[in-house]
Amino acid sequence: MITAKELRQKYLKFFQEREHAVIPSASLIPENDPTCLFISAGMHPLVPYLLGEPHPEGKRLASVQKCIRTGDIDEVGDALHLTFFEMLGNWSLGDYFKSEAIQWSWHFLTSKDWLGLDPKKIYVSVFAGDEDAPRDEESAKIWQGVGVSPERIYYYGKEENWWGPAGRTGPCGPDTEMYYDTGREPCGPNCEPKCNCGKYSEIWNNVFMQYNKTSDGKYEKLKQQNVDTGMGLERTIAILNGKSNVFETELFEPIMKQINDLSSEVIEGDNLKSARTIADHLRAATFIIGDDRGVGPSNLDQGYVVRRLIRKSIRHGRLLGIKNDFTKKISQTLIDMYKDVYPELNRNKKFVLENLEIEENKFTKTLQKGLKEFETIASSEKLKQTISGEQAFELFSTYGFPLEMTQELASEQGLQVDTDGFEKAFKKHQELSRKGSEKKFKGGLADQKEQTAKLHTATHLLHQALRQVLGDQVKQMGSNITAERLRFDFPHPQKMTSQELKRVEDIVNKKIKEDIPIICEEMTVDQAKKKGAIGLFEHKYGGRVKVYSAGDFSCEICGGPHATSTGELGHFEIKKEESSSAGVRRIKAVLEQDSKIIV
Ligand code: SER
Repeated sequence: MITAKELRQKYLKFFQEREHAVIPSASLIPENDPTCLFISAGMHPLVPYLLGEPHPEGKRLASVQKCIRTGDIDEVGDALHLTFFEMLGNWSLGDYFKSEAIQWSWHFLTSKDWLGLDPKKIYVSVFAGDEDAPRDEESAKIWQGVGVSPERIYYYGKEENWWGPAGRTGPCGPDTEMYYDTGREPCGPNCEPKCNCGKYSEIWNNVFMQYNKTSDGKYEKLKQQNVDTGMGLERTIAILNGKSNVFETELFEPIMKQINDLSSEVIEGDNLKSARTIADHLRAATFIIGDDRGVGPSNLDQGYVVRRLIRKSIRHGRLLGIKNDFTKKISQTLIDMYKDVYPELNRNKKFVLENLEIEENKFTKTLQKGLKEFETIASSEKLKQTISGEQAFELFSTYGFPLEMTQELASEQGLQVDTDGFEKAFKKHQELSRKGSEKKFKGGLADQKEQTAKLHTATHLLHQALRQVLGDQVKQMGSNITAERLRFDFPHPQKMTSQELKRVEDIVNKKIKEDIPIICEEMTVDQAKKKGAIGLFEHKYGGRVKVYSAGDFSCEICGGPHATSTGELGHFEIKKEESSSAGVRRIKAVLEQDSKIIV
């Protein structure tokens, strides 16, 4: 028996002994990447460093990173797929390459001092080669060198053995993957490691990041050769403890038991799938809302994902005969289970539980009526095989059914939903309700990059201006930047008055006029604290961070990038101030180019 706590410690210790700096998990909400809603891998917050920027902690890093993969939401309920998971990872930023990475992986997995897995049960795959990158004979040789016989080495194409980029563009490369043979019967004569039947479980992935995928789909050689590895904590714990299933591990047992206790049904078959869905979804929702940049349920971006997760849990709860007010009970258990590893969950507990309670109350009011309406639609004689976009939109706007829930209900009855029609109806509605929408940014990609850097600097000025006007309790809870606008979430109990908004705008514009240079310095967390820097002190290990400051006005721990001076920003204007979730306000603001400054 090995616990998750021991596995996290072992992994980090192993790489620390090999001169890796342990870095903390970044927030689940990407700070500066408008192409992704969530951090989906350990490498994701490291993209600038994989592209060549020096990392303040050096060239060898290791971490346990919180991850969300929404692509897997509909696969949840099987043995392995999870929406939230922890990823153990180690990185070489232009330092060691294939040989060390593979040898260390092998040693960690098989040595009795570390995980002690039976070497004969481990299979590996390497990249088969294509027009973008050559066949990876080099990795195959290294595997043979550590003792993996050729018949346990498989060659696969991009579909299996290529990783990245995390967004649309960015660092990526061929990878080599390690699978563990669970001992189950093969599903047929062609069963092999890439098969999803459950016989082989993929446990670790070493990516040899040597390419940057550009926006026109080309693979350019990177300045440096990187290693990016990822091992799923939950899967590995299942394997190490001889469980065929992540839901039977200590990471899920307490909540599965609680769901069983709350339920009036026998938890097996479809009910088991419902119980697993609830466990997975409420776990993910707890981590997203409980993040230091946490986001509550809404109809937008991350908020919409949170809403889907909670509402789907509530529906499955009803299928199990679970009555009201259960989501926060389960979340409370999760917070207790994880608070030592992720203390932010405890810090943000009130926010998490309140949001769950409000969302559950809200949805409970319309769920029964909505289900009736769905039944009426589904049994209508006129209905062929497809629920129309308008009908799905009606279920969404009147009864709060996320599209995916309607799809799930439909598929249970062998029906389809016209999702294009839904999008059309949705857009029509949005257009009507958002007259005079923000001006679109028309520049090319380089301009976009520059524009997002400016908006990022404006976000720091806004943050400080809000603190001056509303008080020091204001802190960034969420930030999202596109080429057109910034969005900033912060805790505040009521709507801001127009005077307050005006004062905030004036302060920011004054600081822009002063044309203050933006200085970036690297320092230890303690030095940053002494300097009075605000921002997320994610680093628990006394490591080094970057601090960006604008004179004595603003000083924040941040990854950048930023404008070089506030004078470049143009004119700052708040377009909207609204509620984002319980007790959290959201500001959207833009920068209008001011011709006086440009000329
Ligand atoms: N980025 C790779 C993955 O997610 C390896 O860390 O699997």
